[in-house]
Amino acid sequence: MAKMQQLIAANWKMNKTIKEAVSFISEFKKLIKNIKNVEIVICPPFTSLQVVSNELKGSNIDLGAQNMNFEDSGAYTGEISPLMLKEIGCEYVILGHSERRESGENDSLINKKVIAALNHGLKPILCVGETFEQRRHGGTEDELEDQLLKCLKDVANPKGLVVAYEPVWAISRGNPSQKAATKADAEDAHLFIRKLLEGMYGEEAAKNTRIIYGGSMKPENAKELLAMPNIDGGLVGNASLDAKSFAEIVEAVG
Ligand code: 13P
Repeated sequence: MAKMQQLIAANWKMNKTIKEAVSFISEFKKLIKNIKNVEIVICPPFTSLQVVSNELKGSNIDLGAQNMNFEDSGAYTGEISPLMLKEIGCEYVILGHSERRESGENDSLINKKVIAALNHGLKPILCVGETFEQRRHGGTEDELEDQLLKCLKDVANPKGLVVAYEPVWAISRGNPSQKAATKADAEDAHLFIRKLLEGMYGEEAAKNTRIIYGGSMKPENAKELLAMPNIDGGLVGNASLDAKSFAEIVEAVG
């Protein structure tokens, strides 16, 4: 079975000033200008969204945000709405990242955000993943199922949805020596997520929903991870901060 087009997304987290973002984009565009077979997304911090949006015009790179509120507008100090992200040119939004779950986001809030994103034509990159403790106790599949069912409650049609499998224990947190999941462990989790989606939405929809891997993906391991049958791309943190290393990951798509 041919794989769908892979998606490689950069999650810059709380990194890069506007100036640094502009210089990254100008270098990165040159490095990937001949690549046609991969969908590339860059998710900068809110402060750089506008300028990155301008820099990406006419390129084959899409823009994404790292979070959003589920309301369109209102008295929500410090929040950003789906309307604002659409206006600025975002195509994607990362939702439910474990670093946000750690600071209090739960599945029910993430569910509201997923629904709002889809209603506004934003493609959610929904992050799910188990902690080290959960994996140690054999609870990986239960946790993935629990998160996925709750975060996708009342989502009738998953068109546009991307699921990112991000095992919390594999996320680098800026440490370049952190180990990723093995390709076998990652593939097992992706296949499990695919089966869950199949149960929820049917075989065709599950086959057409991209499930991407995040957690210490880097040039050294990207090729073997991306070659696995159920891994449809990557969500890259630390290694996406450098234009050359992010371009190498994009090039690792077979
Ligand atoms: P790292 O690539 O730095 O491990 O980050 C992964 C991640 O959290 C992407 O959302």
